[in-house]
Amino acid sequence: MTPDEFLTALPKVELHVHLLGSASPATVAELARRHPGSGVPAEPAEVAKYCEFTDFAHFLAVYTAVNRLVTTGADIEALVAGLAADLARDNVRYAEVTVTPLSHRKTGIAPRELAEALDSGRRIAGGLGVELSWVFDVSGDDGPPGAEATLDWVLREHPSGTVGFGLGGPEAGVPRRLFRDVFARAKAAGLHSLPHAGETTGPDEVWSAIRDLGAERVGHGIASARDPRLLRHLVEHGIPLEICPTSNLRTRAVRSLAEHPLRRILAAGVPVAIGTDDPGLFGTSPTAEFRMCRDCLGLSEAELATLVRHSVAAAFCSPAVAAGLL
Ligand code: ADE
Ligand code: ZN
Repeated sequence: MTPDEFLTALPKVELHVHLLGSASPATVAELARRHPGSGVPAEPAEVAKYCEFTDFAHFLAVYTAVNRLVTTGADIEALVAGLAADLARDNVRYAEVTVTPLSHRKTGIAPRELAEALDSGRRIAGGLGVELSWVFDVSGDDGPPGAEATLDWVLREHPSGTVGFGLGGPEAGVPRRLFRDVFARAKAAGLHSLPHAGETTGPDEVWSAIRDLGAERVGHGIASARDPRLLRHLVEHGIPLEICPTSNLRTRAVRSLAEHPLRRILAAGVPVAIGTDDPGLFGTSPTAEFRMCRDCLGLSEAELATLVRHSVAAAFCSPAVAAGLL
């Protein structure tokens, strides 16, 4: 088996992927064709260019523009089916997929319609041998009221496979602590706390995600590398970071791969789950992330296998699924 065949064949789990960001350039172009005048290109090659981000704010602006094209339950089901097919091709057996209900509500998808589309997409994924769970998040700029409305939707609809509650979108100017009450309510309802923190801000926001929001994994959390005490805390409490190297490069959260802190975080003993974040918009895949870890960040095949074990240990899948992965 060649090293690349080894990476593809490795049974994997994906714990950090956004449904919207999984849309390939072809899918985005197809959606754009149905919404003339949206400003999003209707040719795949043009979409790939449109997804060359100058900074994190630019990435979020494009993400919002793509979100505006997703207007029906059928669109949602197609996104889930497309993601599941991509995951199956990469030998990903289990994924926790982040969905942002309020963003879909804003484009006219009714609450029940969203839940039904997700259920149906999840059944399609199961037929492809990929088990999906859901993390429902809110974009930070929708604030605590948006987060409360999101949690109300989750608890009312409770789509099967729901495992977590998250916080994404802009981080600068959106202190994690503002969301303390809603995360407490989510945890009391049995949801796992899975906020983004320390992607584009500093270690203080990772501390806040842990202390104020009870984070059980942290989305990105790469700023942790700047605080040795925080790294020790993550190790001692077994709190994994979901690290997405290509995303960090493409949103310019890091300036270059040479500056990426993954190796330092791993050397400190922190459990790390490698994720793709927005594989369609970033032109990546789970296998490509592992290839990058090997070729650009210098990880050995044994270290890659350890990363897969970290992901399985950090996943909120059923014991039966975990047993099939190890
Ligand atoms: N939503 C989709 N991708 C994201 C990212 N990298 N950070 C915050 N929110 C996001
Ligand atoms: Zn993310």
